[in-house]
This record gives sequence, structure tokens and C-alpha cells, in this order.
Amino acid sequence: MKIRKAVIPVAGLGTRFLPATKAIPKEMLTIVDRPTIQYIVEEAVSSGIEQVIFVTSQGKSAIENHFDYNFELDMALKEKKKVTLGRELEKISNLIDIISVRQKKPLGLGHAIWTARHVVGNEPFLVLLGDDLVINDQPCARQMLDLFDEVQESIVAVQRVPMEETFQYGIVEGEPLERARTHKVHRMIEKPAPGTSRSDMAIIGRYILMPEVFEFLGRTTPGHGGEIQLTDALLALSNQRGMYAYEFEGTRYDAGDKLGYLKAILAYGLRHDTLGAPLKAHLKKLTAKL
Ligand code: UTP
Repeated sequence: MKIRKAVIPVAGLGTRFLPATKAIPKEMLTIVDRPTIQYIVEEAVSSGIEQVIFVTSQGKSAIENHFDYNFELDMALKEKKKVTLGRELEKISNLIDIISVRQKKPLGLGHAIWTARHVVGNEPFLVLLGDDLVINDQPCARQMLDLFDEVQESIVAVQRVPMEETFQYGIVEGEPLERARTHKVHRMIEKPAPGTSRSDMAIIGRYILMPEVFEFLGRTTPGHGGEIQLTDALLALSNQRGMYAYEFEGTRYDAGDKLGYLKAILAYGLRHDTLGAPLKAHLKKLTAKL
């Protein structure tokens, strides 16, 4: 089976980033010269995905507009002979086929994914969270799709975190396999109480899921924080069919968190063709004063 579709949930309230996110979706906050969500859609495209399904909510139309064709802007740029800029915008609106579905209430990530069930249908699919960035030459999603080609089962992306931070994540307990960076999942716990976790493998915002996950999501009752947690359905899915955890290559930034967002701006800024060198020089000057 080949994975063609990617679900990108962007319907969350973004409370960690208030007041910036009162009227602007956190996925539209700028990292260097483009919104966070564009990096994520570009990761899906460069990994070979053919269709993106946004799970949106009220107040998030800027995300869909960003990937749409803007006739008036296009005409204005043509009149002003700003050809390169015009082409850049055209490229964004032609990036990939996009469909949106609405999550009417922010009932959690599990519920957001469940909302996309009719558009996904009966095939495995990729999930990329709208505020989770991973920098690596080979995209994180591509690495996971390569593993899927071999195992044809659900996969969660994981990274090692300090034990004292495990309570902030969905945690995976598993057994390492011969294939590098790959583990067979035995157990998953959503945000374990501090000091109780037996593993430091934290789930981050990339998943490959078999369509059976929708049955489990449909049956899942609200868990931690009154939300329909994806982890609960994943645990049921892993018990039924098996599941893999993959320690991806790359650095992950949580752009939905203020500090994570600042770190992401610096990382992308320092990699930028023309801005990287002057930014580095400026940082050197700044840190010399510390
Ligand atoms: P977060 O855990 O970052 O939640 O969601 P949030 O509500 O957006 O942000 P905070 O915690 O209040 O600051 C991870 C991803 O899942 C989406 C979010 O938009 C984000 O991309 N999400 C979350 C939904 O689509 N629906 C939900 O009900 C919750």
C-alpha cells in the first residue's frame, strides 16, 4: 500500500501562544519569510504526498487563503512588474491539492483526526501536526514513509526527552529492532504523572496511521484534559495490529510554544541563503555582551 494523503490538524485554540493567537492562527505565525504551516505542507509535498487534508475551525480561514490563488494580488504584482514575487506566490497556490474539513469544537487531536475520516477513506495516511517543525535534509515524513514501505503498519515518530520532561508528552514503551532507529511499540501512556514514566521516548507530531484508527477514535471517550486523545486510540490500534516507533533524524521545534517558536526562527534564519550569515554575525555580537 502507498500513502497518498496527509491530514494536518490546525483547529486547536493555541492558548499557549496568547495573546498572539487571539485573532491569528498560530500556524500562520511567520518563521523568517513564510508561515509555519507552509514548511509543513512543503514537507508533505517533498515526501511524495499527493493530497493534504486540513482539519480547520472558525477563525482559521487565513490558512486556506494562504494556499489559494489571490487574483487581485496577482494582478497588482503583474502591473508593478514584480515577476519573481508573482511566481513565488503562484508556486504556493499550486503546491498540492488541498481539501478542508471543519472540526466544530476543539475536542482534542484525536477528535480532529476522526473528523477527516470520510475524506481519508479506507487507506493508510500520514498526519503532520500544524505546529511541529522538523529540520533535516531528508524530511521526517519521508523517513517514516520509507519505513512504512517495509512494515506496512502504523508508525509514530519519537524523540528522546529528559526523564523529568516525560509528563508533557505521549510516551512510548517498546523494544528496539535490528533496523536502525526503529522500535516495536508495547505500551503508550499519555502525559504520565511526573516520576512514573519508564521510558524517555516521546511521541512528536508525525504519524502514519492505518485506517482502523478511525474505529478506535469513534469509540474513545474523553481522556486527559477532557479531550479525545489520539494516544488512547493508538494504544488500541497497536494492540490489535502492531505499531512501530521511529526515532527520526533531525531537530524538532514546537512552534506552538513561545520558546520553541523563537528557537525555530533562529534555526531557520541561520540556514537561510542570504540572511544566515548576517544573522549569525549579529548573534555573535549579542552573545558577546551576555
Ligand atoms: P496542541 O496540542 O498544540 O493544541 O495541538 P492547541 O489547542 O492547538 O494549542 P494550545 O495547547 O492550546 O496552545 C497540536 C495540533 O493539533 C491541532 C492543533 O491545531 C495543532 O496543530 N488540534 C488540537 C486540532 O486540530 N484540534 C484540537 O481540538 C486540538
